Amino acid sequence: MIIAIDGPAAAGKGTLSRMIAETYGFHHLDTGLTYRATAKALLDAGLPLDDEKVAEKMAREVELAGLDRDVLSSHAIGEAASRIAVIPAVRSALVEAQRAFSLREPGTVLDGRDIGTVVCPDAPVKLYVTASPEVRARRRYDEIVGKGGVADYHRIFDEVKMRDGRDMGRADSPLRPADDAHLLDTSEMSIEAAFQAAKTIIDAVLTRQIK
Ligand code: DC
Repeated sequence: MIIAIDGPAAAGKGTLSRMIAETYGFHHLDTGLTYRATAKALLDAGLPLDDEKVAEKMAREVELAGLDRDVLSSHAIGEAASRIAVIPAVRSALVEAQRAFSLREPGTVLDGRDIGTVVCPDAPVKLYVTASPEVRARRRYDEIVGKGGVADYHRIFDEVKMRDGRDMGRADSPLRPADDAHLLDTSEMSIEAAFQAAKTIIDAVLTRQIK
């Protein structure tokens, strides 16, 4: 059983994916972390982000077991990840590892930008989780301020729009909903409501598979 979850940055897909994985006892991979780990390795080594050969080498060295959300969560790493994600050789190295992960038993939840379209096109459940750029920027703002940080809403909004442009506009595996994905617009939904909507979709598929 593979559950593919895609969507733009800050749409709530990470939280939703973790809730789903926990509920069904499935393994979870946030594929954004694989791009972030590659980017961080390049930044730490002082290497350029646009050298395709070096970036591919770093991508091949990423260990899924060692991915640490806390270490990789910074905005700078996210931006760098979005930049190296346009390199086809980086993508194919990471997609290979992601596909191997997707086969783990008893099931997996993978979230990212191209899971339903490229990594696991045959996944029986595909969700495309989205929310308006305003809502996503507001959530990110609240998250930073909630942790005691200082944030500028307008700047975050511009960054959200810029990231969308890069992720949706790249030539290789751009962010878009798979034709058979269920769309989940969380702009006006609590995370609990989004989870219930996702659960209804997943349970229907599981019931069909058991029959
Ligand atoms: O979801 P995130 O913010 O951690 O992802 C960081 C970047 O990685 C994102 O802007 C684009 C890239 N990415 C991708 O191209 N494909 C994926 N499946 C996941 C992330």
